[in-house]
Amino acid sequence: MSNRYAVVLAAGKGTRMKSKLYKVLHPVLGKPMVHHVVDQLKSLQLSSITTVVGFGAEKVQDQLGNDSEFVVQEEQLGTGHAVQQAEKFLQDKQGTTIVVCGDTPLLTKETLQAVLDYHEEQQAKVTILTAHAENPTGYGRIIRDDHNQVEKIVEQKDATAEEQQVQEINTGTYCFDNQLLFEALKNVSNDNAQGEYYLPDVIQIAQKEGEKVVAYQTDDFHETIGVNDRVALSKAEQYMKERINEQHMRNGVSIIDPNQTYIGTDVNIAEDVTIHPGCVIQGNTTIEKDAEIGPNAEVNDCHIGEGTVLRHSVANSSYIGARVQVGPFAHIRPSANVGNDVKIGNFVEIKKSKIDDKSKVPHLSYIGDAEIGSGVNIGCGTITVNYDGKNKYLTKIEDDAFIGCNANLIAPVTVGKGALVAAGSTIHEDVPGDALSISRVKQLNKEGYAKKYK
Ligand code: UD1
Ligand code: MG
Repeated sequence: MSNRYAVVLAAGKGTRMKSKLYKVLHPVLGKPMVHHVVDQLKSLQLSSITTVVGFGAEKVQDQLGNDSEFVVQEEQLGTGHAVQQAEKFLQDKQGTTIVVCGDTPLLTKETLQAVLDYHEEQQAKVTILTAHAENPTGYGRIIRDDHNQVEKIVEQKDATAEEQQVQEINTGTYCFDNQLLFEALKNVSNDNAQGEYYLPDVIQIAQKEGEKVVAYQTDDFHETIGVNDRVALSKAEQYMKERINEQHMRNGVSIIDPNQTYIGTDVNIAEDVTIHPGCVIQGNTTIEKDAEIGPNAEVNDCHIGEGTVLRHSVANSSYIGARVQVGPFAHIRPSANVGNDVKIGNFVEIKKSKIDDKSKVPHLSYIGDAEIGSGVNIGCGTITVNYDGKNKYLTKIEDDAFIGCNANLIAPVTVGKGALVAAGSTIHEDVPGDALSISRVKQLNKEGYAKKYK
């Protein structure tokens, strides 16, 4: 492990978001902003990651789990005060501390690595990650002296008209000599427009003491966007979407309309997959080659096998094998395990069920808590009656069984291998293998009765 440490600032309530949700928990492409930040830091081989959370922000801790240590900032008195809360973990450490805001979700590990390396190469005490902004409104401005050295950072609200013209902005990411950081923080005051203890004031303090302060400017402003309100949130979503879609397209994925395609950061897609317009694909999802997703599909935490086609459908937390046809208008709910060459047709709902190779559920069925073998045909409108209002029960349908249309299979029940269930049957007892089971009222025809009745 290196002597590099990270502090993530995530305690601010985010009043500008006007939300009951802590700002850093607002998702970008389905993942909370702070988790994007921590995921990038995790790949940098740091000795520790400490996240500063607000009082009562258990949800932030639940979200990050073991990916971070936590300190609580009881009152939100500013970014400098927030970093001070990490002192108890870091005060004895020699090395570099990188501080990142939890509301800058687009930062990449490559940029964070570059700032750390630059800081150490330069043997600087402070390195600020800066960017050039066409419209710098809202960001702290980097003020340089006559020798082009960084002198200080001025917040929007404290900036003079001249300072507001400066387009080099503070991205909110910094590397500090750890010892200097906590010493300097003791001297930060809250004498400013917002009455807050500003972390950027450490720069001026270090500068005055003759310590080396440098800036590392990235050429990608989009990567550094700080999300303070919902307008910026939508921009972050858009930039990240563009970045991810472009990566997939360069890797051999056809995305028909990248504007209408939302793919999360943890999705793996193989070559020659086609994504049609209107798709949201998130979580830990893997899509194997030659699959086709959409138009209009939602896929979350799923495996989608080679050559599978999923159109106008929703799939969650499930495994779907190769060459499966899903939809249009199917709903695959969590814990479905679908084999190869299966058909799941229109208006079919599958939940917590295993369906083996070459079986078909083509139309209008509910399959819940079921184990279906291979080569099974489930007729239109068939329902596994899995719930008695208190408990859920298992339906087993063995290989090559044929279930006629509109059957009710009242669980717990087993239909044996090769058995036939007649259409319209309500099956509440096991059906032996190779048997025909028919359970419906005998039909009665009354000759001429309809004519008389009319
Ligand atoms: C901050 C910087 C600004 C920079 C911008 C980049 C300061 C004073 N200003 O402004 O120079 O251009 O980020 O996006 O640092 N937080 C706490 N505790 C607090 C206050 C904030 O943990 O008491 C956290 C927030 O949750 C957030 C981060 O610190 O993740 C930054 O706070 P925010 O209020 O968003 O600062 P900005 O106004 O964006
Ligand atoms: Mg911010």
